[in-house]
Amino acid sequence: MIEYKDKVFHISAPGMSYMFRADGYGLLEHLCFGPPASMADAAALAVKPGTGWGCAVVLREDDNASCPDVLPLEWSGAGRGDYREAPAELETDDGPVSTDFRYAGYEIIKGCAPIKCGLPQADGGTETLAVTMRDDALKAELKLYFTQFGAAVTRRAELVNLGSRPLYVRKLMSFSTDLAGEYDMHSFSGGWIAEARRTVCHVGMARTVNESVTGFSSNRANPGFMLAEKDAGEDNGRVYGFNLLYSGSHYASAQRSLQGLTRVMQGISPVGFRRKLMPGESFETPEAVMAFSEAGFNGLSHIMHDFVNAHIVPRAWRYRERPVLYNDWEGCMFSFDESRLLDLAARAKKLGCELFVLDDGWFGGRNSDRAGLGDYNVNEKKLPSGIDGLAKKIGRMGLEFGLWFEPEAVNPDSDLFRAHPDWVLAEPGRESLTSRHELLLDLRKEEVRDYIVSSVCGVLDGADVKYVKWDMNRQSCALGTAAHEYILGLYDVLRRIFAPRPDILLETCSSGGNRFDLGMLCFSPQIWCSDDTDPIERLDIQGGLSYLYPQSCMGAHVSASPHAQTLRRTPLYTRGNVSFFGVLGYELDLKDLLPVETREIKAQIAFYKAHRELFQFGEFTRLPAPGDAAGWQVMKNGVAAAGIFRRLVRAAPGYGRVRFAGLSPDKRYRVESRKQSLRVGGFGSLIKYVSPVRISVHGALLRTADKHYAMPDGGDSFTASGRTLLAGFSPAGRFTGAGYDSASRNQGDFGSEIYVISEETGHVKKR
Ligand code: DGJ
Repeated sequence: MIEYKDKVFHISAPGMSYMFRADGYGLLEHLCFGPPASMADAAALAVKPGTGWGCAVVLREDDNASCPDVLPLEWSGAGRGDYREAPAELETDDGPVSTDFRYAGYEIIKGCAPIKCGLPQADGGTETLAVTMRDDALKAELKLYFTQFGAAVTRRAELVNLGSRPLYVRKLMSFSTDLAGEYDMHSFSGGWIAEARRTVCHVGMARTVNESVTGFSSNRANPGFMLAEKDAGEDNGRVYGFNLLYSGSHYASAQRSLQGLTRVMQGISPVGFRRKLMPGESFETPEAVMAFSEAGFNGLSHIMHDFVNAHIVPRAWRYRERPVLYNDWEGCMFSFDESRLLDLAARAKKLGCELFVLDDGWFGGRNSDRAGLGDYNVNEKKLPSGIDGLAKKIGRMGLEFGLWFEPEAVNPDSDLFRAHPDWVLAEPGRESLTSRHELLLDLRKEEVRDYIVSSVCGVLDGADVKYVKWDMNRQSCALGTAAHEYILGLYDVLRRIFAPRPDILLETCSSGGNRFDLGMLCFSPQIWCSDDTDPIERLDIQGGLSYLYPQSCMGAHVSASPHAQTLRRTPLYTRGNVSFFGVLGYELDLKDLLPVETREIKAQIAFYKAHRELFQFGEFTRLPAPGDAAGWQVMKNGVAAAGIFRRLVRAAPGYGRVRFAGLSPDKRYRVESRKQSLRVGGFGSLIKYVSPVRISVHGALLRTADKHYAMPDGGDSFTASGRTLLAGFSPAGRFTGAGYDSASRNQGDFGSEIYVISEETGHVKKR
C-alpha cells in the first residue's frame, strides 16, 4: 500500500515500512526502511539535527540546522553542501555542474510506470509512487519511481533535460538512500568457475563498493548484495537486500557518516559513462529492487525469491515446471556427429531425461572455439539431416530438443567476420582484443541486431526447438556509455526473438555465471550458474546465489567424476543431491556410465520428477548443519525436502544434530531419507572384511562387482514432532572405522543425504 499525507510518503507491506517526506526545503528526508511504522510516526522518526554542525554548509543562513550533509536523504545534490557520495553527476558543455533537485510534486499510479528506453522491468507491481523533483537553475527534472511488489520495492530514476542546451549524464544511480545504523556488506564475488562466493565487508567511513566494469554484470561481482547488522544470522537479525535489473557494468556503494547514517546507492557503473541528453530528452536508469527482513538472511531470501518467481521471469514460465535436460557439452565438446547424438539421446531418454540439448559445435566451421562463431549454417558433415532432421529424430524418441547459440560474438575466422569486419564492437583507431578467440558484435548497430534476429529466428522457425541456451563467452572492452548501449541492444534482440515465442525455454549463460542477473532473468527463466559442476564447489556457488535468487532459475547439472575443474571424486548421489536444488540436468558422456550408475541416475530422475514442484518452487531455506556441512531445505504445501552435504569427514565423528525449518511444532512428521547406495569399488581393500569370499583388490571380481552392485547405505525413517525436528534430531550413525553396518552411514568425504519430511497421515510412504 502507498499512502500520502502532508508531504509524507509511506510504502508498507506486512513486516515492512518505507517512509520519507519532503521537508521544508524540498529535500526528500528518509524516515525509515524497516519494521512496520505508521504515518503518525513520521515526526518521531525524523532526525533532529540540533542547533547546527559547525563548518557545515547551510541551506538558509538563519537556520543553523539546515545542513544537507547530516540529513538522511532519498536523493542528494552535488556541490550544494552534501559532501557524501552523490547519486548524480551531470555536466554541460562548460564542464561539471552542481545539482540541487527539490520536491515539486507526486503521483500515485496503479500498477507499474512503464520504462520507455527498452530496459527490462519487473511486472505485476501493485502501485507506483512517482515523485517529481526539479532543479530550476539546471533546468532539469528528476523523477523518482517507487513500485511496490508485495514486500519488495523497486526504485528507479529518470532525468529530463528541460533546458535549451545539452546536458551530459556522467552518473545517475537507480536509487540512493540513507539507512540508520551500522552494517556489513555481503556481496557475491569470484570469477570464472568460482562464481557467487559470499564476501563480507564491514561498512565503515571508507566507502565499500561492489562493482563491475566488464561491460556485463559479471562473475566477479554479482549486482545483488545485502547489508546486514553484525549479529544477523540465517534466521535472525535485520537484513536489507538490493539488486539491479541490469546486465551491464554496475556500481553499488555503502558508506557510513559521522552521524551514523549508511548511504547506499546502486545503478549503472559511472566508469567511462557520459550520455548526452538533448533538450527535451530523458534518461532512464535500470530498476533496482530492495527488501528488508527482520528474520535474517533466510527471511530476506524468501522475499527476493518470491519477487523473482512472481515478477521477473517471463510470464509464460512463472511457476511452470522445467524439464530435466541432457546437455552434450561436457560429454562431447566439439566432437560429435548425428549418430553419436542419437545414441546419447536414446540413453538420456532411458534415464528419464525430457529434453536433449545440443550445445556448441553444430554450425559453420565450429570444430573448436577458434572458428565459425557467427555463421549459423548447420555443419552438414556432422549433421547430414540438419537441425530439423535431428530435432525430428530426437522428437520421435519422446524427447524435446534444445539448441545452443552464441549470437553476440564472432570468431575472426568466420564468414561473418570476413564479410563484415566493421560489425565488431571496437574503439576507432584501436586493435580489438580477443577473448576465447572471439570478438563481440556491435549490438548498438541496427543491422547487426537484425542479422542476429534473423539468423537465430531462421533456425528456431526451421525446426522444432523447444529450448535455447544463449551463451556469451567473453568480457567486453567497451567503456561506460558504449557498454550500456550494447546492453540495450542485447535486450532489443532478446525481446524480438523470444517475445513472439514465449514457450521456448531460454537458458542464458555466459561462460557459466558471468551474467547471472535480474536483467537476464526477465528474458530467461533460468541461467547456467557456472561451468564448475563439481558438487562441492556448487555448494558455494548455488549456496551464494541462493541468497538473492530462487532455485528455479539455477541450471544445475550432474557431471563426471573426477571433476574437470577440481579432479575431485564425488559420489554420484551427492552430485544428484546438490543438483536437485536447482533445475536438474545431466552433462556427461552417458556411454561411460556403468550399469550401477545408470540405475542410480534413473532413480535420481524419478525422485526429482516426483518432487519437482517442491524442488523448483518450494520455499528455500539454508539450514544450520553440523560441522563443515551445508544444509538446504525446500518446502511447499506442508512437504519439505532437506539436503545435508558434508565436505571432509573426521574419524570418530560426533553426534551432530540435524535441524529442519518451517515445520509446525505441534504436527507430527514422517522423515524418510532417500535410499542411497555405495559403490563397492570405493571401499578398496576394505571390501575383504565384509565379503564372505576372498577378493583381490586389483582383481576382475571386484571390478565386475563394482560395475553392477552397490551396497545400501544407512538412512533414517522415523516420525517425530515438528518441535523436535526444528530443535534437531540425531541422524543415523556414521562409519567409525570398525566395520560396515548397513544401518549406519558409510559415506566418507563429500557424502550427503536427502530427507523428505511430510505430515504424518498414518501410513508409511515408500522411500
Ligand atoms: C561456455 C558454457 O558455459 C558451456 O556450458 C558451454 O556451452 C561452452 N561455453 C560452449 O562453448
